[in-house]
Amino acid sequence: MRTVGDLRALRACVRAWKQEGRRVGFVPTMGNLHAGHFSLIELARRQADRVVASVFVNPTQFGPGEDFERYPRTLAEDSVGLVEHNCDLLFAPAVETMYPFGSGHALRIHVPDVGDALEGEHRAGHFDGVATVVAKLFAMVEPDVAVFGQKDWQQLLVVRRLVRELALPLEIIAGPIVREADGLAMSSRNRYLDAQQRAHAPALHAALEWMRESFVEGHALGAIEGAAKRRLERAGFVPDYAVVRRAEDLAVPDEGERSGLMALVAARLGGTRLIDNLFFDLP
Ligand code: PAF
Repeated sequence: MRTVGDLRALRACVRAWKQEGRRVGFVPTMGNLHAGHFSLIELARRQADRVVASVFVNPTQFGPGEDFERYPRTLAEDSVGLVEHNCDLLFAPAVETMYPFGSGHALRIHVPDVGDALEGEHRAGHFDGVATVVAKLFAMVEPDVAVFGQKDWQQLLVVRRLVRELALPLEIIAGPIVREADGLAMSSRNRYLDAQQRAHAPALHAALEWMRESFVEGHALGAIEGAAKRRLERAGFVPDYAVVRRAEDLAVPDEGERSGLMALVAARLGGTRLIDNLFFDLP
């Protein structure tokens, strides 16, 4: 695996592959890679002849007081993991490469509607930062296909909308959530949890399962959402939201609507904010 930080080297490598007729897959990450990321690399490998991963902790998607400074930066370990998972090229740019005018003066892309709800409400500006960096990464890497994890479902919708509106010539593929044995969705932020918090953390996934069961039993959505928040509070979380939405656009479902739904939760455990979601594959 080659590692490059420089745009010219990245382009030379990817363009040479394309001239050979190779299909290029891309997995953008912020590093601190775990089994969830590696499953996306494997998925990209099945979709493409060459796989590029990026590691860049993007300052513009963190709000004031969020964890940008303490976000785990583990490039050496990430690099070993990527080699083990057959990645061909690691792009690890400096901030100046991504933001030549400084991250505080960067152009910003706002994705309305699907970017404004849920995370958009609780993390103002977050998706502007995500959409901006993802658009830049796509322009730099020029992939044929890019893979995003479903744990960040709303991010996936934001990226799909970005690609459609800018008519970008690439395909977006979603990789399933990878969970720990006790149900906790894998996340780089899990490493912030102390032992006691880690023991409580699976309650987030349990709340999603409970929401699905309650929905199947026919309970009203408002009641399910309220009760899910209370369950999370009893488990030691401070919830931002616990909702049932249409998966395709995060709209509030009509009464009686039963297909294409999912539950989404975001909650803090101590200083750590976790998100998760679950499709309602209803009988
Ligand atoms: O999901 C992430 O890790 C980040 O939001 C992404 C897509 C790499 C953009 O910085």
